[in-house]
Amino acid sequence: MNEQALEPLKRHPEGRALRAEVDLGRIARNLERIRSAAQGRGVWAVVKANAYGHGSVPVGRALAAAGAQGLAISSLEEGLELRQGGIQCPILVLGGLRPEALPTASAEGLTVAVVGPEHLTDYARLLQTHPVQLHLKLDTGMGRFGLLPSELGECLDELRSLAPWIEGVMGHFATADDPDMGFALRQRRVFDGCLAQLADAGIHPTQRHHGNSDACLRGLLGRDTHFRPGLALFGLTNVPEGRALELEPALALVAEVARVKVVPAGTTVGYGRTFVAPQPMQIATLACGYADGYRRDLGNRGVVGFAGRTFPVVGRVSMDYLTVALPLDTPVCPGDPMTLFSSEPAAPHGLERLAQTLGTIPYELSCALHRRITRRYFS
Ligand SMILES: Cc1ncc(COP(=O)(O)O)c(C=O)c1O
Repeated sequence: MNEQALEPLKRHPEGRALRAEVDLGRIARNLERIRSAAQGRGVWAVVKANAYGHGSVPVGRALAAAGAQGLAISSLEEGLELRQGGIQCPILVLGGLRPEALPTASAEGLTVAVVGPEHLTDYARLLQTHPVQLHLKLDTGMGRFGLLPSELGECLDELRSLAPWIEGVMGHFATADDPDMGFALRQRRVFDGCLAQLADAGIHPTQRHHGNSDACLRGLLGRDTHFRPGLALFGLTNVPEGRALELEPALALVAEVARVKVVPAGTTVGYGRTFVAPQPMQIATLACGYADGYRRDLGNRGVVGFAGRTFPVVGRVSMDYLTVALPLDTPVCPGDPMTLFSSEPAAPHGLERLAQTLGTIPYELSCALHRRITRRYFS
């Protein structure tokens, strides 16, 4: 691996030895793969929630350099963080903004999703002095943000006054990962109907985007000009079609062993004494806990990687620590690195497999990684 630290690991001799290692080269390759699956459509790369825990500024820079046309985030604060990090490409605020925030968005060159009919008049007034590019969001079936198709007709006059600023129209699939594509196809038909209605009213945005990663992987992008992948950029997927693309997970979570002790059979470990050593064994304590985003319910269920094998997480995960059991004949010392989240797609401690164990989705695990964890970037 061509490893080059872009951000030095800020270590103190007595500091916490826990780091997320993020492979920006893999993220760039994932972008390339998902773009070819999208047949060259433009990419709004979704880097909200600190780039799904990977670190929004370094990841955003890497994606912009690798050819993403723009970055998408959910809030004003996330957009400002990217601008303060020196990122100059278009940035789309997916969650919309109250009118009071438009001057800041304008000054920072942020593109704003219009997520409902309620602010259209205020927007039309403010845009005269504080211009921003707008993407009109339509609620085609997600039931969250966006103008409902039934609201569109009565808003057309106001939308016409916003037309010079409406660069794009967008929707969002509710079931892009569902093997039954019926609802997704219905959403697409609703979207196309709304686009036709806008065109009849003389509103012709240059961008149309309704799809996320799974929609791209499952051929649901229709006649869209752009799409908005998030998960796939990080090498993770919810759908079998993602495997064929050979996406590469970009994140590993590594902790150094803080302490090792040999315990006799019958020793209990951790809060609640939920683990009892069945025979003499070694217990390694790692400085990573649920405050870092390592889920508490992985206690007595998760595994960590060490020296080419996996070993069980035993006892409860506490706020700052977890404990791992190793046989007596496995050499292990303080300072040895153990991998809590593997970047190998099929590893039992990869994010997709851990998410399956927990009955959740990989997003929840990666987004939960706390900002106090040092991130180390390489490519
Ligand atoms: C509006 C919107 N677009 C795109 C995405 C990216 O989705 P995914 O990470 O599944 O590709 C998200 C993610 O939650 C989203 O909320």
